Amino acid sequence: MYKYDHKILSVGVAILLSSGIAFAKKGEYIPSAVGTMDSHPTIDGGVYHPVKNSKTGPYRVNEKTLKGGYKFGRKPTKNELKAWDTDIMADGTGLPKGSGTVEYGEELYEAQCVSCHGDFGSGGGGYPALSKGDAYVQQKTLKNQRTTPDADGPTRVFGSYWPQASTLWWYIRDGMPHTRSKTLKDDEVYALVAYILNINEIKIDGKLVDDEYTLTREKFLRIKMPNADGFEPKIEGKGSLERVRKYYKNPKNFGAIKVAYAKRCMKNCQKKSAKVVRVRNGGISDFQPPLSNKKEKPIAKSTELDLKKVYKDSCAMCHTDDSMGAPVAGKNSDWQAKKKSGGIKAIYDRGIKGINVMPPKGGAGISDDEFKKVVDYMINLK
Ligand code: HEC
Ligand code: HEC
Repeated sequence: MYKYDHKILSVGVAILLSSGIAFAKKGEYIPSAVGTMDSHPTIDGGVYHPVKNSKTGPYRVNEKTLKGGYKFGRKPTKNELKAWDTDIMADGTGLPKGSGTVEYGEELYEAQCVSCHGDFGSGGGGYPALSKGDAYVQQKTLKNQRTTPDADGPTRVFGSYWPQASTLWWYIRDGMPHTRSKTLKDDEVYALVAYILNINEIKIDGKLVDDEYTLTREKFLRIKMPNADGFEPKIEGKGSLERVRKYYKNPKNFGAIKVAYAKRCMKNCQKKSAKVVRVRNGGISDFQPPLSNKKEKPIAKSTELDLKKVYKDSCAMCHTDDSMGAPVAGKNSDWQAKKKSGGIKAIYDRGIKGINVMPPKGGAGISDDEFKKVVDYMINLK
């Protein structure tokens, strides 16, 4: 029996996930049962992945729901469907009432988002940027082609690229913050959305979402994103199927080059002679720029121990003066005192094992022999 299941069954209540928050009794919040990696609550005794030691385990099935053994699934219950059916449409379907200020959004952002998404949504370290400044300016970069390595490519962030703001609202409520998703209240989502609109310099009804702005459901639904018309074909609304068919009939629309839709040709199609690439003496020639045909192994990176660096990174903080009670690097009298019990060999051994506040090998990830070299370096440091 898993911990959270047990807890849930023992209080004997259904866990509601409709707004992403689990309640034991009405109004009582169980933080331990939401959001964290190893505690996804089940809905109507459904199925979930238990996470142990940060690894997802196999599906676990609540056997009580199986009545009569394993079969090929069952119909989802109303509550299970409701828990999944959370998307928010551009026309406002699914969007709850509420409001939030840019100011509060910034506060929430600083507390819950900045660690991954950076200052003002600048992104970095593998986490997506949420803004690259003025979205109306950045939208114009979408047609950039990176024809040379140093040319600017298109900027694809929420403000410049996403055709609808509703996706942002939905994404944040259901997916963020990444490690504790579904913990934000609706008004908090409004505030965070307001802040992200602000850093993207989005305008609503011609008015900039500035630092004093209060976003409401009504104002939110009037947002027209800079790239709202940037996607083809339009797959929404009446006539969508015809539009999609017409669009894909013309290969030019999806970037195919001329030859792909020219008259087909099976024989003697080549008008100009193609450039010939020759293979000579085991190497390819006639190639610009010439390809390398060197066969030497790449030179292995030097693995030589950088004594000075190890000392600086792992030892110096404790061994430069006697404030830590450690023998001071290069101070002969300190090391002579140590040598009295067992000589240099015992000094090495005590250092390798760790002694009092000093962790084994000073915490440096090096071999015993390397450690000994660092000790010699330290003793003789001028
Ligand atoms: C622990 C790191 C982490 C934290 C904290 C976090 N996020 Fe994210 N966020 C991510 C990752 C990773 C992605 C990309 C997910 C993917 O592409 O599958 C993402 C994606 C997003 C996106 C979509 C961006 C895009 O262009 O695709 C938005 C919007 C977003 N996060 C908003 C937020 C907000 C608002 C918060 C704070 C409430 C937050 N995030 C907190 C990691 C985090
Ligand atoms: C967190 C502080 C700390 C760090 C980091 C640290 N030391 Fe020490 N080290 C000490 C202290 C304190 C002592 C004296 C312990 C005692 O005598 O009680 C000591 C003692 C030693 C001794 C003598 C052991 C003995 O008793 O004869 C050696 C050798 C030594 N350190 C080497 C190193 C080297 C090499 C590094 C880096 C790779 C290092 N230490 C990193 C705190 C540290």
